Amino acid sequence: MNKMLLLIVASLFFVSGVALAVPPSKTLEFTKSPMGKVTFSGKIHADAGVKCKECHNPQTFPKMKQGTVEIKMSKIYAGELCGKCHNGTRAFAAKGNCGRCHKR
Ligand code: HEC
Ligand code: HEC
Ligand code: HEC
Repeated sequence: MNKMLLLIVASLFFVSGVALAVPPSKTLEFTKSPMGKVTFSGKIHADAGVKCKECHNPQTFPKMKQGTVEIKMSKIYAGELCGKCHNGTRAFAAKGNCGRCHKR
């Protein structure tokens, strides 16, 4: 009886733990670029004062799910997606700073 209860409590903790594992605590890795892996830190962005809806809106990254938006440098340079901020005004510019995002 007690063991059963313990199991239920333990599985509840497990389920809620997974549900809470969203940014800012989350780190996403984008591994498709030949320039090297890009690590996106939810914490760095939250600490810099960026709000969820500045990224999660219909124009930028509508879904809170990785892999739904294809990220191309042409869009970043055009001021879309990451380039909405990484333009040298709000945050460091993409041009000339490849290595701040791409790590080999
Ligand atoms: C600076 C931009 C940015 C901010 C701010 C941001 N996110 Fe995200 N988030 C992203 C991107 C980019 C993705 C991946 C989207 C895609 O690939 O389509 C993502 C994905 C996610 C995912 C899915 C993760 C996975 O493993 O699939 C969740 C959940 C999420 N965000 C929640 C949040 C919450 C909650 C906040 C605010 C605390 C937040 N995000 C703030 C950019 C951001
Ligand atoms: C809504 C604005 C915004 C968007 C969109 C955004 N960022 Fe940022 N990002 C920031 C700010 C602000 C900082 C911290 C200030 C700085 O480093 O210039 C930052 C910092 C970073 C850093 C830390 C770099 C370092 O050297 O510490 C990385 C890496 C980064 N962003 C990658 C990304 C990627 C990849 C995307 C797109 C998936 C993205 N960001 C989208 C605003 C944004
Ligand atoms: C603000 C972060 C950031 C900076 C700075 C940045 N990139 Fe990217 N780049 C990304 C992300 C995110 C992707 C998508 C990777 C994926 O989907 O796995 C990407 C994809 C790419 C790709 C493959 C897709 C395409 O558009 O061809 C190339 C090549 C690339 N980057 C080159 C560069 C070069 C060269 C620089 C410097 C001039 C640079 N990047 C600077 C975030 C950045």
